[in-house]
Amino acid sequence: MQAAKISPVAVVGLGKIGLPLAAQFASKGLDVIGCDLLPEVVESINAGRAHIHEEAGLEDAVASAVAKGKLKATTDTPRAVANAEVVVIIVPLMVGLDRAIDYGHLDAATRAVARGLHKGSLVIYETTLPVGTTRRRLGPMLESESGLSAGADFQLAFSPERLYAGRIFEDLRKYPKIVGGIDEPSTERALQFYRSVLDAEVLAVDNAETAEFAKLAETTYRDVNIALANQLALYASSRDVNVTQAFKAANSQPFSNIHRPSLGVGGHCIPVYPHFLLGDATNGELSLVRDGRATNDGMAKVGLHQLERILGGLRGRRVLVLGASYREDVKELAFSTVFPVVDLLHRAGAQVLLVDPHFTRDELQVVEAEIIDDVDAAATKGVDAVVVQAWHSEFRDLDWGRFRGLKVVLDGRGTLDAESVRRSGASYIAIGISETRAGAPK
Ligand SMILES: NC(=O)c1ccc[n+]([C@@H]2O[C@H](COP(=O)([O-])OP(=O)(O)OC[C@H]3O[C@@H](n4cnc5c(N)ncnc54)[C@H](O)[C@@H]3O)[C@@H](O)[C@H]2O)c1
Repeated sequence: MQAAKISPVAVVGLGKIGLPLAAQFASKGLDVIGCDLLPEVVESINAGRAHIHEEAGLEDAVASAVAKGKLKATTDTPRAVANAEVVVIIVPLMVGLDRAIDYGHLDAATRAVARGLHKGSLVIYETTLPVGTTRRRLGPMLESESGLSAGADFQLAFSPERLYAGRIFEDLRKYPKIVGGIDEPSTERALQFYRSVLDAEVLAVDNAETAEFAKLAETTYRDVNIALANQLALYASSRDVNVTQAFKAANSQPFSNIHRPSLGVGGHCIPVYPHFLLGDATNGELSLVRDGRATNDGMAKVGLHQLERILGGLRGRRVLVLGASYREDVKELAFSTVFPVVDLLHRAGAQVLLVDPHFTRDELQVVEAEIIDDVDAAATKGVDAVVVQAWHSEFRDLDWGRFRGLKVVLDGRGTLDAESVRRSGASYIAIGISETRAGAPK
């Protein structure tokens, strides 16, 4: 469907999510003006080049949209907004190591949008937010800077971005888009907008708060589910249960969807968004969410104790960590379990080596390990143990037999073929699979 009536559209924040969105809107015939703080990002896009290379289809989509004159970029957000009918804001909300929220980018983007806001605009936030933020923090900021009134002069809605980096265009076709406004006209207008630019279903919910909460509920569900998987796996490990088989069998019942046990949960989303809920929860509310977070944060320690036991101590051992990213096939270190894993290994006296083909040596300097260029080079180093943190595609053909003297592999993601490890003569362990279980590694 073409959407000539809802155009131009300003997309504020041209990052991993904002740029694909801008390209998607342009592909539907809208005139899109993307806004970003970074001049180099703007220049690259105006030259038809996506500055993000990991997203399948993005480079072609940007080149095509720019060539057709449908996508332009600017650092001048107020001017872009002044010329736009719809404004989509997708700048990050930063979260510190203590999980405290830093609204700096979002507030700055909101003020810049307010300076260009005019009667009849529709403003939609897509950045994941604590419940109530659109109405109580951002709406008043837009009003006070613009002199306009939310609801009366401009419409305001929230629509969470649920895409999975790396397969965004695929998800844009599949994942229903959730929309909730600060009032009915805002919801209705946002609904019409997304229906004109997405092929997926668009679902209206009662209000902005419901839409904000939906995203936090879905991500928190996954965190708590992983915590449950971890606790079940630990229970099972001392009872002669093959936990991998047990979960697979349990999940053959359609109502069961037990996730995978692991060394921990990383990334910008899953370990962070539960704190958006906990931040304003009263005593006694959400205790399951709080416990789940603590369980997942403690798993690196649990896994490394297993490793320590099987090796009879870690002091002086050479341990290779495979993958620094928080999960496979992404280049992202945010809240990655690599940090506690490497820290705990050092504290136990191990020598830590690290390979991650997604990063340069410089980019990995934030991790205190000996950076090795690739698995071939690592195999010559004589490592005692391997800890799999992120099982990138580049590792999947790995021949464990090349690691002479390798004693054990700790599968931190529970995804490896255990038999391929055991065939090399090394032991295989994972959360819930320890050397003590019958039939497990010798
Ligand atoms: N990355 C993901 O996997 C993912 C998935 C689902 C939802 N989200 C949501 O999307 C948000 C953005 O994530 P991302 O991965 O695209 O971030 P990102 O860091 O890749 O990109 C953000 C962009 O916003 C720009 N920016 C920052 N402040 C700005 C301002 N004041 N004005 C204009 N531009 C500004 C930055 O320069 C950057 O280019 C997240 O906070 C999250 O809520 C992300």
